[in-house]
Amino acid sequence: MNNTNAFGITELLHQETYLANGDLKTWEGKKDEVYSTISSTENYNKTLLGTVPHMDESAALEVLDYACAAYDKGKGEWPTAKVSYRIKCMEDFVVQMKKEREKVVKYLMWEIGKSLPDSQKEFDRTVEYIYDTIEDYKQLDRDSAKFSKRDNVNAHIRRGPLGVVLCLGPYNYPLNETFALLIPALIMGNTVVFKPAKHGVLLLSPLLEAFRSSFPRGVVNIIYGRGREVAAPIMATGRIDVLALIGNSKSAIALQDQHPHKNRLRLVLGLEAKNPAIILPDADLDLAIQECISGTLSFNGQRCTALKIIHVHEDIREEFNSRFAKKVDELKFGNPWEEKVQLTPLPEPEKPTYIQELIDDAREKGAKILNEKGGEISENYIYPAVLYPVTTEMRVYQEEQFGPVIPVKPFNSIENLLDEIADSNYGQQVSLFGKDIEQLAPLIDTLVNLVCRVNLNSSCQRGPDVFPFTGRKDSAVGTLSVHDALRSFSIRTFVASKDNPYNNAILQELLSSDKSHFVSTDYIL
Ligand code: G3H
Repeated sequence: MNNTNAFGITELLHQETYLANGDLKTWEGKKDEVYSTISSTENYNKTLLGTVPHMDESAALEVLDYACAAYDKGKGEWPTAKVSYRIKCMEDFVVQMKKEREKVVKYLMWEIGKSLPDSQKEFDRTVEYIYDTIEDYKQLDRDSAKFSKRDNVNAHIRRGPLGVVLCLGPYNYPLNETFALLIPALIMGNTVVFKPAKHGVLLLSPLLEAFRSSFPRGVVNIIYGRGREVAAPIMATGRIDVLALIGNSKSAIALQDQHPHKNRLRLVLGLEAKNPAIILPDADLDLAIQECISGTLSFNGQRCTALKIIHVHEDIREEFNSRFAKKVDELKFGNPWEEKVQLTPLPEPEKPTYIQELIDDAREKGAKILNEKGGEISENYIYPAVLYPVTTEMRVYQEEQFGPVIPVKPFNSIENLLDEIADSNYGQQVSLFGKDIEQLAPLIDTLVNLVCRVNLNSSCQRGPDVFPFTGRKDSAVGTLSVHDALRSFSIRTFVASKDNPYNNAILQELLSSDKSHFVSTDYIL
C-alpha cells in the first residue's frame, strides 16, 4: 500500500488524554502502541498507528468517582434534568460527531480492517441510530405526559435512569455497537464509564471533544487500558448499577463475579452466537447461496450475527456445495479501501493461526476443504475454507469461529436437526431457506422458540436497528433496538396521589408552574 493513497497513515495519532469529569486529562503514565495488521509497505510489516493510555486501577477508580458524583445516587443534575435538556445535549453531540466522519472511517479501516463502504455504513448507521433514539425518546416522553386514574389514585408514570453504567463494546463494531449501548444509557439520565474494545480505539479520538463539550461534567467518562486492570476493579467497588457489554459470556461472567451486590446489578449483554443456516431440499439455491455468502463472510464472518454453520439437506448437498465453494473462491481479498473488496485483513494477529487450527482439526476428523483457495494463509489473513462434512466432534462445530471458515453439515431428518439446534448453547438467530409452506410453517413455529429471529430466505443480521435484537441462552441478556434500549437502560417510576381537591390543586400548581422536571405534561416537538 502506498502512503500517498488518500487513506494512508501520514502521521501517528497519539491519544494522550482520557475523558474524566468533563476534562480531557493528560495521561502521564504508560502508553500502549496501537498497530494495524495492514501493511504500509510492499514487504509485509504491521503498521504503527499511534498510542493510547495504559491506565491503571487507581486512575480507573478516580474516573468512577466522577461518574458516581455526576449521578449522585440519583440526585445529580443529569438524572434529574428535563428530558428536553438531555435531548438537546445529544443533538449537540451528533452535530459535532457528523463532522468527524472521514477521520473515524479511516481509523475503522486501519484498526479493524473493515472495508470502506462498510466503515462508512457503520458511521452513518450510528448517526441514524442517534437521531432515531432522540425521536423515540420524544415519543416515549409524549406518551408519559399524562395522568392515569385508577381506584381513586392519580398516577403520573414515566421512566427514570438506573444509575452508573459501565459500558464495554466489541471490536467488530467499535462505533455502532458501542454507541448502541452508550447513547440510550446517556439519554435516559444514567452516567457512564466507557472503555473501548481491544481493537478500534483510536477511531474514537476524533469524537472525544464532542463528548467533552456536549455533556455536563462527569456524565460521560472514557478510559483506556486492559479490562482486567480497569474494568474488573470498577466492578469490584459495587458502585456500578448496569453492566452494558457486547462481547463474550466469559468476560461478562468474570465482570459480574467481581460485583459484591449482584441483585443490584442490571445486565444488558449481547454475547456469542453460532447462527445456523438450514437449506431445505426445495430452496432456491441461487438465493440461498448468495445469502449464505454474505451471511458467512461479510466482514470475514466477524459478526455475532454471522452464519457460523450451514446445514444442507442431503438431497441438494452436492449442487449446493460445489456452487457455494466456487462462489467463495470468487471473493476478492484486499485492503479495505480497494474497490470491490469483500475480504479484508483480520485485525487480530493471532486469528489466522486459530482458524488454521480449526481447519486442521476438522480435516483430521474427516472433513475436506471444498474450495481451491480455502486455507491459503498470509501474514494477516486466511482465505475462507468451506469444510465438509462437518460433525459434532469437530472444534469448528463447537466453537464460535468469529472469522473466515465455513462449516457445512449434511442432514436428512429435520426433527434431528431441530433437536440439535435446541441443544445448542446459543439462541440468537437462524436462516431458513425453502419455499413449501407445509414444511416451513411447523419449522417456523418451533424455531421462533429456539432463537429470537427467524430469517426466511435471508441471511441473519442485527438491522434495521429499530427491530428487536436479542437472543436466548448464552447469546444475550436484555433486548436492544432503538425502542427497547431506552427501556433496558431505565425503570418505570411514578408519582401517585389520592384523588381529592387538596392533592389535585397541588398537582395542578406543579404542572402550571413548570417547577418539576418530572411532573410535566409538556409535549416535546
Ligand atoms: O456483531 C454483531 C452485530 O450486532 C452484527 O450486526 O448484523 O448488523 O452486522 P449486523
